[in-house]
Amino acid sequence: MSITNAVVPVAGLGTRLLPATKSQPKEMLPVGKRPVVQYVVEELERNGFKRLLFITGTNKDSIENHFDPSHDLIRYLRETGKEDLLAELEFERADLHFFYTRQKMQRGLGDAVLHAEEFAGHQPFAVALGDSILGRHANSKTLSRMKEAFLDNNCAALVAFEEVPAAEVKNYGIAAPEKEPLDGQSFVVRDLIEKPAPDEAPSRLAVAARYIFSERIFPALHETKPGKGGEIQLTDAIRLLIRGGEKVVGIKLPDAEQRYDIGNFESYFQAFIDFALFDPVYGEKLRQYTQELLQAHKQQG
Ligand code: G1P
Repeated sequence: MSITNAVVPVAGLGTRLLPATKSQPKEMLPVGKRPVVQYVVEELERNGFKRLLFITGTNKDSIENHFDPSHDLIRYLRETGKEDLLAELEFERADLHFFYTRQKMQRGLGDAVLHAEEFAGHQPFAVALGDSILGRHANSKTLSRMKEAFLDNNCAALVAFEEVPAAEVKNYGIAAPEKEPLDGQSFVVRDLIEKPAPDEAPSRLAVAARYIFSERIFPALHETKPGKGGEIQLTDAIRLLIRGGEKVVGIKLPDAEQRYDIGNFESYFQAFIDFALFDPVYGEKLRQYTQELLQAHKQQG
């Protein structure tokens, strides 16, 4: 069986990134040359997904516009001899089918995923949060490993995790792993807690914005009551699966693979610097510029 359906929730208000997100979605903020969500889509394509459902909300039209073919722009670039720029629009020709549905009220990530019930049908599907990039320039193959592990383990949910500093556990879903790992990279998830205080966190393993679910997540989501922040949490639905005796497996991101969380300015700035410094065209000059800048700063200070 191949897993080719993916759900991309992009409905959040992005309040932690105001004023940049006042009239544009955080998923459209540029990181280097591309908007965040383009990296997410490219990662999904690279990992064999074909049908993508975006769960959108207020003010998210520009995401749909971004993935529409831009016939007028293409004609203009041809007519004015700017053929080199056409390459920048190649992503529009990806072999992908886009679907959009709107979450009308901010009722949480769990409620957003529930909007995918008809789209997913009885097939397993991935959830890729639209504000997180995996790997520099989204070169991650983690979702392919997750698909394999999902099928091998015959589980109800498979979740990607990354180790975060203790001070950051309060920002994420945190796993309580079984003591005996399944192998070097994966483990059975015994419990999952949404945004715990540091002294309540069972580990430092944080949900890293990628999941694969069987259809059994939907009844769990229907049963999930509002949790942290008064919202229907996806984490709480996974917890219900575990309590109902279902197998939930976690897989760690490889050491070399960073997760860029474009949910706050600190990590957004880091992601931008990282992607720009290693841009294949502009990177080298920019690294030189940055070194000079830091040097001058040091001398002044
Ligand atoms: C959501 C999830 C959280 C997860 C995080 C990953 O939180 O609720 O469990 O760790 O995404 O980015 P949010 O960032 O939407 O507050």
